Amino acid sequence: MKTILVTGGNGLLGRYVVRILGERYRVVVLDKKQPRVSVEYQQGDVLDLTAMIKHTHGVDAIVHLAAIPHPLDHPAEEVVYLNVMGTCNMLEAAARNNVRTFVFASSESTLGFAFAERKNHPDYIPIDEEHPLRPQDPYGMSKVLCEEMCKTYTRRYGIQTICLRMPWVWVPEPDDQKFYRTLINDYPKWYKNLWAFIHVLDAADAFALAVERDYHDEHQAWFITADENWTGIASIELVRKFFPDTIIYKNRLPGTTSLITGNRAKTELGFRPKRTIDDVFSSVSSS
Ligand SMILES: NC(=O)c1ccc[n+]([C@@H]2O[C@H](COP(=O)([O-])OP(=O)(O)OC[C@H]3O[C@@H](n4cnc5c(N)ncnc54)[C@H](O)[C@@H]3O)[C@@H](O)[C@H]2O)c1
Repeated sequence: MKTILVTGGNGLLGRYVVRILGERYRVVVLDKKQPRVSVEYQQGDVLDLTAMIKHTHGVDAIVHLAAIPHPLDHPAEEVVYLNVMGTCNMLEAAARNNVRTFVFASSESTLGFAFAERKNHPDYIPIDEEHPLRPQDPYGMSKVLCEEMCKTYTRRYGIQTICLRMPWVWVPEPDDQKFYRTLINDYPKWYKNLWAFIHVLDAADAFALAVERDYHDEHQAWFITADENWTGIASIELVRKFFPDTIIYKNRLPGTTSLITGNRAKTELGFRPKRTIDDVFSSVSSS
């Protein structure tokens, strides 16, 4: 049975990723904080390269989630240092131990819209992987740098590096559901987020697919999104009102289609988001 090391496996996303991977693999969580559920666990700090080399010995794949997940609560230098050096250490540890697969939690923040301080509107919609990446904030910048580092480690060592660019990950948990309702009521305020989301179980499925994808010497970066926006409002109306200077590709944006497309991940990874916005509200997770 393959062994998968999941850094940050005790976090919001990590708990679900660990659960899904645990159905098929031996999963080891590497986190600063002790998980609340019973799972094989190694306490560690991704900033400690020597320890990471030890922890990745004998591992088949690394799923690297440990990071500061947005730029709002920490100074820029902390966000950049942890996210960039943590990823660099995990890649270096992978190289030294001949780990062949590295799956990285990237973000739609690479595009630079969500935390932009100065005007930054999409060039076109639906946004795909060809869209320029223009982060203005330390978090988005850190994810762009991490993707570049992944590319470098593929180039040098042939490690398969897969970067999954997720929008906001929504979890079906009561407190979060309450919060999401307030967002939906106040949707104009969230235009920079492009009203994009992914149900956490779909995100976890994407990580499982990436781990299973057994290619050598490959680097990929894909958007992993729900098929719809979270407002329930027609996407064409949202774009015309909030991004009047943005081109709508072929002038087609049916229904509530997501403003960021996950089509490439569908074609190349076989990813299919199964959950809608209703599923975020209709179920309560036991996690
Ligand atoms: N949550 C989202 O909406 C979202 C969207 C896109 C991308 N992401 C990315 O997904 C990943 C997980 O995000 P999350 O929301 O689960 O974050 P989280 O803060 O809930 O979890 C992060 C985990 O990493 C651990 N960690 C932090 N610093 C560490 C260190 N130095 N060494 C070891 N462990 C450490 C924390 O203890 C925590 O368990 C991040 O890389 C984030 O940037 C998240």
